[in-house]
Amino acid sequence: MAFVVALDGPAAAGKGTLARLIAQHYGFHHLDTGLTYRATAKALMDAGLPLDDEAVAERVALTLDLAGLDRAELSRHDIGEAASRVAVMPAVRRALVEAQRAFSAMEPGTVLDGRDIGTVVCPQAQVKFYVTADPEIRAQRRLDEIVERGGAQDFQSVLSDIIQRDERDMGRADSPLRPARDAHLLDTSKMRIEAAFSAAKTVIDSALRT
Ligand code: DC
Repeated sequence: MAFVVALDGPAAAGKGTLARLIAQHYGFHHLDTGLTYRATAKALMDAGLPLDDEAVAERVALTLDLAGLDRAELSRHDIGEAASRVAVMPAVRRALVEAQRAFSAMEPGTVLDGRDIGTVVCPQAQVKFYVTADPEIRAQRRLDEIVERGGAQDFQSVLSDIIQRDERDMGRADSPLRPARDAHLLDTSKMRIEAAFSAAKTVIDSALRT
């Protein structure tokens, strides 16, 4: 059985960066599952289809090619918003979760990050992390990214987006964002990414020895 590292947590908590560092260090395959929801939403938007028709969205989700997911192309704010709306539909989640599970079985191991990896997609994962940080800190990080890309936005609107996204992700009926019972908590509010990576490595190394 492939070794699976599951990382869950709210937007901009640092789980993507952490997942990439872990995958690189251990030579594991990495899947940012948020991109699967984003790609589904973008395909609907590009085709001028509604975001709230479950049967249509399911059909799009079933034909998604995981190999073609491009973070740069899918990082747009409006795509993230649309993704969190598409992600409340059970038929869409079923289709994408199946593709994510198939990915997680790749040898020698995989790292998946998202909202429901440790709870729903890979409950058997050998190691689970719940990565979080205070909303204000996450909003500041998001704002820094926007500014770095040459954009402009005010802190309050980024913060209210983050809070609204948290509510939608944690409040939905199907697979809400929450820590798995056996997840290791990593609060990155006051922790640099190097420190979070080092803490994660200790846990993974120990699981690999058993
Ligand atoms: O992590 P992100 O911003 O790329 O995710 C976009 C949306 O996709 C997010 O609001 C919730 C949804 N999502 C999900 O429901 N389950 C996942 N495993 C990953 C993302």
